[in-house]
Amino acid sequence: MNTLNHVAFIMDGNGRWGQKRGKGRNYGHLKGVDTLKKIVKSSIKLKIPILTFFVFSSENWRRPKKEINYLLKLIKIYFIKEIENIKNQGIKLNIFGEIKKLSPDLRKILKKSMLITKKNKSITVNLAINYGSKNEIINAFKKTKKINKKKFEINLDTKNIKYPDILIRTGGHQRLSNFMLWQLAYAELFFLKKLWPDFNSSDLKKIVRKFQKIKRNYGSV
Ligand code: FPP
Repeated sequence: MNTLNHVAFIMDGNGRWGQKRGKGRNYGHLKGVDTLKKIVKSSIKLKIPILTFFVFSSENWRRPKKEINYLLKLIKIYFIKEIENIKNQGIKLNIFGEIKKLSPDLRKILKKSMLITKKNKSITVNLAINYGSKNEIINAFKKTKKINKKKFEINLDTKNIKYPDILIRTGGHQRLSNFMLWQLAYAELFFLKKLWPDFNSSDLKKIVRKFQKIKRNYGSV
């Protein structure tokens, strides 16, 4: 059976979920946070050590201002309201992405959240915020003096974190959208038609069971 260290998520479909209900795209994002919380809880029970969620991409700045502001506010409020809860659940938080481009108050709360959860051990949750894989790779190249795989990889946002074994993308599209391009080289990819707010722990369990039975070759036979 394959060991499962890391599951990464592209949480697509929030906007459509809200629109389908006549409540607008932002309502879908709000419901998306509930799904994220539930998935973290079930992953702790399933003993999955690492999760990564694609929360806000470097391309998401192209969205309408109203939606961008809502999303960034949602992240801020989430951390203000939930940080004690996150800490008590034993969650270690990590942020990937260019947070220096975010507002000072959001940056402050993100940094504080990482600091007060840094000794937690039940699960590591990485949130990719203002993240784009191509930027991450270029930045890592610039930082690496003598290029070899090992020296380059420690300059990626993932540093010493094991790479995803599974990528789950909801929402019906089968693409990577500039997410962890380097790190997903050997991941098993699962694309679901379901929209993110409808994704649940039983979907996750089914994928984990399928993953455990896959023969992973890494180029060998
Ligand atoms: C993609 O769906 C989803 C996003 C760009 C945002 C995901 C963010 C959250 C679930 C909120 C996370 C918040 C915290 C606090 C960590 P889409 O908007 O592209 O949906 P569509 O494909 O239906 O348009």
